[in-house]
Amino acid sequence: MKNIVLLTLTLICLGGRMESLAQTESNKILIAYFTWSGNSKKIAEQISKEINSDVFEIVSEKGYPEEYIACTEQAKTELQNQERPKLKTNLEDISKYKTVILVYPNWWNTIPMPVATFLESHNFADKTLIPICTHLGSRFGTSINDVKRLAPKAKIGEGFHIRGLEDESSFSKKVSDLLKNNKLK
Ligand SMILES: Cc1cc2nc3c(=O)[nH]c(=O)nc-3n(C[C@H](O)[C@H](O)[C@H](O)COP(=O)(O)O)c2cc1C
Repeated sequence: MKNIVLLTLTLICLGGRMESLAQTESNKILIAYFTWSGNSKKIAEQISKEINSDVFEIVSEKGYPEEYIACTEQAKTELQNQERPKLKTNLEDISKYKTVILVYPNWWNTIPMPVATFLESHNFADKTLIPICTHLGSRFGTSINDVKRLAPKAKIGEGFHIRGLEDESSFSKKVSDLLKNNKLK
């Protein structure tokens, strides 16, 4: 009788442990970001601290001029030509992530073209993509529709747009809402 009780308890404990391991693995979150002047990077890093996730920077091989107007011109040409700039950074295995939080600046009312390269390079089937867009007034622009078009198999989660870096308190609220609404924490 004692043995049966012990065996049952052991099985319950093992079952619980396996379940929690499985949950950690299957719920893995990646934060992928593109940045030019640093806002999106800051946001990505702050969220990753909250949820302890992996972080991946999307970097164009060709790069962008440091001067603002020159950067906007290059970005405009890339958008008009629907270029897919080659990336300098390579995300080896997206399959282990269930959720990808995508942080990017609004460029010409949509995503920067290196983000398009990133989206088209990976299979987002069975994954949730959560867009976070930093901007100077255009909010998401057309970026949500463009993300959907470029990653048609992804489920699009509830992200947010943020003007520059805004103040600490509204940013913290947006992050906690994001984690709550997408059941990430
Ligand atoms: C090439 C370029 C195009 C931009 N186009 C827009 C735009 O259409 N609408 C907008 O609100 N902000 C626009 N911005 C401003 C950025 O979205 C904003 O400054 C953002 O927070 C920058 O993020 P980052 O620091 O991660 O690069 C543009 C900035 C650049 C460099």
